Amino acid sequence: MSESLETYQIGDCELAQQNVNRLNLQDVITVRNGDLFAPVKGMKFDIVVNDVSGIAELPGRVAGWYPPSVNTGREDGASVVIRLFERVADFLNPDGILYFATPSLSNVTRILDSAKEVMGDQIKELGKFRIPFSRELTDAIEPLKFFCEQGYVSFKAKRSRYVWTLSDFRCQRQG
Ligand SMILES: C[S@@+](CC[C@H](N)C(=O)[O-])C[C@H]1O[C@@H](n2cnc3c(N)ncnc32)[C@H](O)[C@@H]1O
Repeated sequence: MSESLETYQIGDCELAQQNVNRLNLQDVITVRNGDLFAPVKGMKFDIVVNDVSGIAELPGRVAGWYPPSVNTGREDGASVVIRLFERVADFLNPDGILYFATPSLSNVTRILDSAKEVMGDQIKELGKFRIPFSRELTDAIEPLKFFCEQGYVSFKAKRSRYVWTLSDFRCQRQG
């Protein structure tokens, strides 16, 4: 395991750097700004934790999670994550591990199919959490139902509320 942790973000780098400074972690965390792995070109890691924008445009905006300056995962929430999966093998050491989460406010099928294509069948689900809709999401229920019918997002009615699901996964690169 390497002794330093490299992390990068687009848009929120300033905030990430402020957090690193506040927590006095400058010796172990380096913040880099850029598109996906571009800022760490040529490097290999034991662990990659994916948290790039993975929420579909409509729920991401109406929920208020993504301000206008930050891109969502586009129409079905899968595009940026899939782009990352397509590149991740080049940045993992042999036996390196990729962690990622799938919010059902994105096209989970497309995301998992892509993960399997890249990482094989070594994908293990670590946990599943059911999260009630916020007021903002509930207010957008009609357009969200339409996107659910299109397969872009998925959620369920539970008594008088709607819930979406967040699942965590771990996959290990083979040799
Ligand atoms: C769910 S947030 C992650 C927040 C982060 N984990 C944190 O705690 O601050 C998604 C982040 O992915 C970033 N992002 C979106 N597209 C990206 C890309 N192509 N390359 C790098 N980061 C990207 C967005 O700017 C946003 O900050």
